[in-house]
Amino acid sequence: MKIMEIEGGKDLSGTIRISGAKNATVALIPAAILTDEEATICNIPEITDTEALCDILKELKVDVKRASESIIVNPKNMENIEIAEKFSKKLRASYYFMGALLGKYKKAVMYFPGGCSIGARPIDLHLKGFEALGATVQNEGNKYIVEAESLHGANIYLDIASVGATINIMLAAVKAEGKTVIDNAAKEPEIVNIATFLNNMGAKIVGAGTSTIKIEGVKHLGKCFHEVIPDRIEAGTYVIIGALCGTPLKIDNVIPEHIDSLLSKLEEAGVSLEVGADYVLVQKQDKYKAVNIKTAVYPGFATDLQQPFTVLQTQSTGKSKTTETIWENRFMHIPYLKDLGANISVKNQTATIIGPTKLKGCEVVATDLRAGAAMVAAGLKAEGKTTITNVEHILRGYEQIVEKLTAVGAKITIKEI
Ligand code: EPZ
Repeated sequence: MKIMEIEGGKDLSGTIRISGAKNATVALIPAAILTDEEATICNIPEITDTEALCDILKELKVDVKRASESIIVNPKNMENIEIAEKFSKKLRASYYFMGALLGKYKKAVMYFPGGCSIGARPIDLHLKGFEALGATVQNEGNKYIVEAESLHGANIYLDIASVGATINIMLAAVKAEGKTVIDNAAKEPEIVNIATFLNNMGAKIVGAGTSTIKIEGVKHLGKCFHEVIPDRIEAGTYVIIGALCGTPLKIDNVIPEHIDSLLSKLEEAGVSLEVGADYVLVQKQDKYKAVNIKTAVYPGFATDLQQPFTVLQTQSTGKSKTTETIWENRFMHIPYLKDLGANISVKNQTATIIGPTKLKGCEVVATDLRAGAAMVAAGLKAEGKTTITNVEHILRGYEQIVEKLTAVGAKITIKEI
């Protein structure tokens, strides 16, 4: 087991460079099997979710080469075998193999995916989308067999603008016969990144980034080279850390538009920001105003930044409210923030935070990935030593977090115990 130790209360200054986006990478790797030739993807983050997906590729006899931040995927010797539960349950994004295998072979056999326990996380919209394209879905316990004689285009309306369902349906539809229209599609930047990747291979997708995506099926997908966009959630997490401890902290390799909702909330709170073309410079202030946030689909306030943002709310003067609308179980960080000294109460899907409160280091748990990021932010702000267990969650999504924070002055280590 790994634990993280932080000696908090230090000023942080210098530059943190943002890595490739986890939530794009985890779809791009499964999507790469759709090529009939070879796909090269660069700016791949070294996180454990990347490793877990490469393990699945290897199981499927896909040739995978890793070179620094790039990955070359060649599926010429690939075999479409059942993906064992031990692989699918390692992460949520294993479900992208369903859409990709269905698109390529008209058959996918795998188990219910894993991932953070932040809600029930059903996959009904993915499966309804596959069925609309002509597939049948058999479900035996946790196992799913999705297959089709042939796939045909369809008009699909998503009841919820789901990121995963939008991407999975795109993956299955790119090689279906005819035209697919996804209405009420999710608009997250990662979806645009995946659509661009597929189009680079020869797919015909228009409208990604809007709520209507149109896909004209093609027979062949070829060789391509692609770059992962910077991780907007990693960027947002470090900008929040900068607001807590930066003197100043520069967050580099960012697409600022992708974190507009966060930046405007930070400005409302009184955080000093300089926003450049590809960076954000953030300087901590002595006093912040209380602000309310409500999570929403993109371009609304990202649910994945809600937990780290709570830490800033503990340092703001007055009463702040955070309402979570996407995941029913995304307040697991709150009891640990309270242990650190925060004054927070939760009712239904809203947390009320009264600040400012001094945070004092103690033992806390990273209950999920972004709760873990919140614990890191709180530990950096807190006086004294914070010990975080379940660090594996954090390493699923933040590349070289210890190295990046150490380089700007943090006292942070990971130990194997
Ligand atoms: C993606 O999850 C991200 N994960 C999540 O990031 C992120 O929180 C989420 O999108 C929302 O932005 C990845 O990209 C791997 P959804 P996803 O389908 O695709 C309901 C992180 O911290 N729903 O958009 O699983 C669902 O229960 C992670 O990096 C259905 O009801 O999210 C939720 O309430 C955590 N049926 C809502 O829709 C379905 O079939 C949005 O989920 C699918 C979803």
